[in-house]
Amino acid sequence: MTAHLSCCNARCRAAFPITEPIYTCPRCGALLEAAYPDLALDPAATKRLWRERRMSNAPLDQSGVWRYRELLGFVDTSVHPAVTLREGNTPLLNAPRAAQYGGLDALVFKHQGFNPTGSFKDNGMTCGATQGLRLGMKKVACVSTGNTSASMAAYASAAGLTPIIFLPHGNISYGKLAQALEYGALTLQVEANFDQILALVRALAEQTGIYLLNSVNPFRIEGQKTIMVEMLDQRDWRVPDWVIVPGGNLGNISAFGKGFRELLALGFIDRLPRFAVIQAAGSAPFERFWRERGEFQAVTEPETLATAIRIGDPVSWPKAIQVIDESNGVVEKVTEQEIADAKAVVGQCGIGCEPASAATLAGIRKLTASGVMKKDADVVAILTGNVLKDPDYIYKYHTGQLKTPSGESLRSTFGNAPVVVPNDPGRIAAIVEKHN
Ligand SMILES: Cc1ncc(COP(=O)(O)O)c(C=O)c1O
Ligand SMILES: [Zn+2]
Repeated sequence: MTAHLSCCNARCRAAFPITEPIYTCPRCGALLEAAYPDLALDPAATKRLWRERRMSNAPLDQSGVWRYRELLGFVDTSVHPAVTLREGNTPLLNAPRAAQYGGLDALVFKHQGFNPTGSFKDNGMTCGATQGLRLGMKKVACVSTGNTSASMAAYASAAGLTPIIFLPHGNISYGKLAQALEYGALTLQVEANFDQILALVRALAEQTGIYLLNSVNPFRIEGQKTIMVEMLDQRDWRVPDWVIVPGGNLGNISAFGKGFRELLALGFIDRLPRFAVIQAAGSAPFERFWRERGEFQAVTEPETLATAIRIGDPVSWPKAIQVIDESNGVVEKVTEQEIADAKAVVGQCGIGCEPASAATLAGIRKLTASGVMKKDADVVAILTGNVLKDPDYIYKYHTGQLKTPSGESLRSTFGNAPVVVPNDPGRIAAIVEKHN
């Protein structure tokens, strides 16, 4: 059986052609994923080939996603051109200061903020836009807390597709909104929350034939799984003990789990890492579900200043719980203060990230304190977005003006407000000399 879309519901498992423009199973409503039942690769030879491609100037080889195209068999890129902006190729950064803060001997960040539009969304969008183009779509749409819209606008415009973006009114950082505008998207700010708008746009996409590029799109998940492939390639295929990722709609953790599952089945690795998903306390339905089980309960009024993970009803939770369970993983939640402080520590490493990304370090600190994560564990934490995505948050934190959605002020543990000085060389020299 060739590449196809497979229903993720174990009791259904219906199969559909890979070219069907569907996002959920028409029979049971569950999520779909790309499946490659005939895929067989020689691990040693393929790892060598991928390494050699790093030296090549061919656009596909230069992409940190399409370099691993043997795992992206949903499309033949020699027939249907890939839409690439040289995404991926993101670094592993050693962060001793963050390790110490997190209670670890060592910590490595895989920084997805180094992507063309500054977040991990580009890894998935290159695949989603490629599939949209291949299906002959003209218009593409997404609902977004910000990063998806920035990425979608860029890739759609690069592909000659028309991007249409739906945003929750007033809950998006200016950095991200600015990107969507600059990349040429029609941008609609809707007076409803993310979950409500997603329901609306899914219905609209069905009626009007617009291609939906939200994380329910199975091809975005295909691209995002390569973040783990690239990470392993960079580590000479040593599987870490832990991979830590912030959780919103839970597409990323689902993608990471799929990537690892496929590499294990193909014989590229011999074990899985443990995954930890970290949520903001005000938007933590998955953490609650993991702890209590029973029925999945959405949070109707999700709140957090980390707007990228302000999601109350994450669509990908059924895929995500499978990843947590099969990897002996955990789900943790962290407060606004813990996120803000961890973010400032990532900044002090000279690395920086956006608020949602910092949930990873805050989560690590909690997991080591509770003894779940050992001090000497080999940990890779994913920084999902660039430091410049939300400058307003940074300024307010360092000047002591950051307030949670409930109006409570956050303590600025690392307050680094700008110092206003007169144009007086003597006074300036004195300040500089005192500072160490
Ligand atoms: C910076 C950042 N971190 C984390 C997330 C959460 O990822 P997911 O929705 O795949 O769980 C997002 C999603 O928008 C994001 O933009
Ligand atoms: Zn089904």
